[in-house]
Amino acid sequence: MNVADPSTPESEPQRLFFALWPEPELAGRLHALAGRTLRPGDGRRVAAENIHLTLAFLGSVDAAFRDCAEQAAAAIRASALTLTLELIGCWSHTGILWAGPVRVPEPLSLLVQELTAGLASCGYAPERRPYAAHLTLARKVRRCAPPAAIEALAWEVRRFCLVRSRLDAKGAHYEMVREWELSPPAA
Ligand code: 2AM
Repeated sequence: MNVADPSTPESEPQRLFFALWPEPELAGRLHALAGRTLRPGDGRRVAAENIHLTLAFLGSVDAAFRDCAEQAAAAIRASALTLTLELIGCWSHTGILWAGPVRVPEPLSLLVQELTAGLASCGYAPERRPYAAHLTLARKVRRCAPPAAIEALAWEVRRFCLVRSRLDAKGAHYEMVREWELSPPAA
């Protein structure tokens, strides 16, 4: 992921989301896993450097909203956590191949709740559907298999970030706007 260019005019609306971004080694493993899972010719894999877990998708927002969202993020007191990725699945209605945990660990639920509550004060309306923690590994998958167990991948999550998404004919490009450290895990 690139780092945002500070010369970008601040006044244009920006498409933003909060996310957890895996280290290159884990992202590479997930990318390879998608390659082994997809049938030949099916789906479009997400590039390893673009694989992430979305915490909250803000959509296209103005500078005032972005400032408010950054303040909300800076006030987060949630703890670092381990997210164990144990499943690979596919949503046939969206054609998304994903990796995720069997159960969302409590510290991740708390992080999402704290973030969502902070963003509500900026005017953010959270999605109504339940939060489904997942990392999208491929899109446009036509032949989805039922969820399957994978060799567990333990992800030590120490920080979260705000990311800008720019869309063009080739797809989405992501730029890190800012990141925040999570508190050390409770002993
Ligand atoms: P997805 O990977 O399951 O599609 C950037 O677009 C990130 O925000 C993606 O990870 C995407 O999830 C997520 N996201 C959540 N809601 C979205 C929406 N309404 N439009 C686009 N992306 C959304």
